[in-house]
Amino acid sequence: MCGIVGYVGAQQAAPLLLEGLARLEHRGYDSAGAAVVGPSGLRVAKLAGRVRDLSEGLPKRFAGKIGIGHTRWATHGPANDVNAHPHTDASGDVAVVHNGIVDNAAVLRQRLADDGVELVSDTDTEVFAHLVARSTADTLEGKVVDALGAVEGTYGLAVVHADFPDRIVVARNGSPLIVGVGEKEMYVASDLAAIVRHTTTVAHLEDGELATVTAGGFTTFRQDLSRSATTATTLDVDPSAYEHVEGDTPRMYVEMLEQPAAVERALRGRLDERFGTAHLGGLNLDARELRAIRRVKLLGCGSAYYVGQMGAALVEELARVPADAEAASEFRYRNPIIEPDTLYVAVSQSGETIDTLLAVEEIRRKGGRVIGLVNVVGSAIARACDGGIYLHAGPEIAVASTKALTNMYVACALLALQLGRVRDLSIADGKRLVTALDELPATIDRVLKLEDDIAEIARELARHDSMFFVGRVRGYPVAREGAQKLKEISYRHAEAYQTSELKHGPLALISLDVPSIAIVPDDELTDRNVAALHEIAARRGPLVVVTHEGVDLAGLDAQRIDVPRLERELDPILLTIPLQLLAFHAAQALGLDVDKPRNLAKSVTVE
Ligand code: F6R
Repeated sequence: MCGIVGYVGAQQAAPLLLEGLARLEHRGYDSAGAAVVGPSGLRVAKLAGRVRDLSEGLPKRFAGKIGIGHTRWATHGPANDVNAHPHTDASGDVAVVHNGIVDNAAVLRQRLADDGVELVSDTDTEVFAHLVARSTADTLEGKVVDALGAVEGTYGLAVVHADFPDRIVVARNGSPLIVGVGEKEMYVASDLAAIVRHTTTVAHLEDGELATVTAGGFTTFRQDLSRSATTATTLDVDPSAYEHVEGDTPRMYVEMLEQPAAVERALRGRLDERFGTAHLGGLNLDARELRAIRRVKLLGCGSAYYVGQMGAALVEELARVPADAEAASEFRYRNPIIEPDTLYVAVSQSGETIDTLLAVEEIRRKGGRVIGLVNVVGSAIARACDGGIYLHAGPEIAVASTKALTNMYVACALLALQLGRVRDLSIADGKRLVTALDELPATIDRVLKLEDDIAEIARELARHDSMFFVGRVRGYPVAREGAQKLKEISYRHAEAYQTSELKHGPLALISLDVPSIAIVPDDELTDRNVAALHEIAARRGPLVVVTHEGVDLAGLDAQRIDVPRLERELDPILLTIPLQLLAFHAAQALGLDVDKPRNLAKSVTVE
């Protein structure tokens, strides 16, 4: 949430900042701004709105070879011009961009006001600029360290100062910050996407670490100004995978269609047909350690939590190990009991979701073992875990997650398979699953081909203000994810419920105006599911049934989406994909910007 970019080198900074900001807009689009240090000192432009609005005039007006920029997702204060970053001190010599939250901002604001400082914005960030300006240290590093000494909270931070025109000082505590190494030029960013066109050689700052970045290189240090040893590494990423031209097909659509290829990448080299198992070297667990696991707990937020629920069911089914999933955002607040023989699994696309990261840290602090199912290589969660499975979904830019979720499910399946095969899962069942996983990309392709029919249903659903998504047992997390996706991008109210629970209350809401989207896999619960749907139909509730070819709906008056079948273990993900298309086309029918849903941003790095 919020994006930071910075540049220092031989080129004009402003165009590079604008380009980086455009690539960061999925991280926040409430406002945008940039500060450049040039021959006429430090100059700042910022406004509520999009990067394209900022672009008009900025490169021409601001000459200078060093600068910082920001896209904002508002935490403190509304999205207006004044609250946009960068924030400056009263003299206009210091500019700061910040991701995170200053917990003691109210105290610091009061203290500064008492000292006669005029605070112009409602933000927590502004205090940094004043604190840096008021420090008596004679280096920019010393001034930033002084300011940080007064601050409690989380930050990814970049500071420029008119009196130190050769450097950017950056700091990290709980919000991502990387330094990118170029040819006689350097970048800083909260997210690789901002700078990947220029460099893939980056250093990830650790929490509590700062860096001085000049055109010639960077040095890292701690808050006591002692040097630290963080170095840059070259990442194995394809910059072209980040390309997406604004105004083209929505990024979410592109990412949905990429799912077969993304799954292929997630499976590559990990399936063992001969022994019907998976090979996951990154787990850092041998067969003996895997056998000793008595429980599996998956932790994630939002859609990653729902996939965690799907994955927990899979682990129980294949490995016969008790497993459940929990919202990572709640986990640490209930003083969880951390068990030595439980395998904790953090599930995250970005690898930067603060709630999931803090859950991981809580587990590790208490001596637990945690692995990560993470998409972004080198991200904070990936680094904080004892081991893990990279998702290999490729960069996911759209705010609404699709291909990364599918690959999370695939990673859960691989984990369940490997865990199962060191326990009681037979080689025959292992091989059956390996074959099914092998066929998954092609089967997803078949699901995606249902798009035209789904789009028609979506256009009809978009006319309703409120709807239910219902499912039971394995279908329930699918319903939760379906409701989530619809809410997120179409702003239609959608509530997920267990089909079995409807008659205990919510059935009262069913009417001609309130449709239900029901998940009805072909399994031992089909008849029970269908019976409950008849109860909805009897109350004139319109029905859309996401089911398998051949399932008999016993004369139910419903629109159906028939999903091809593979093996029952893979049903949840194959039943989820039509719901992505449903949400996408509902939002399109309503003329909404699916890639930038209101109030949201990609990668939630604030609590
Ligand atoms: C929904 C969505 C969010 C994320 C959640 C966790 O489409 O994208 O609910 O799933 O914020 O994000 P990650 O996976 O980055 O930890």
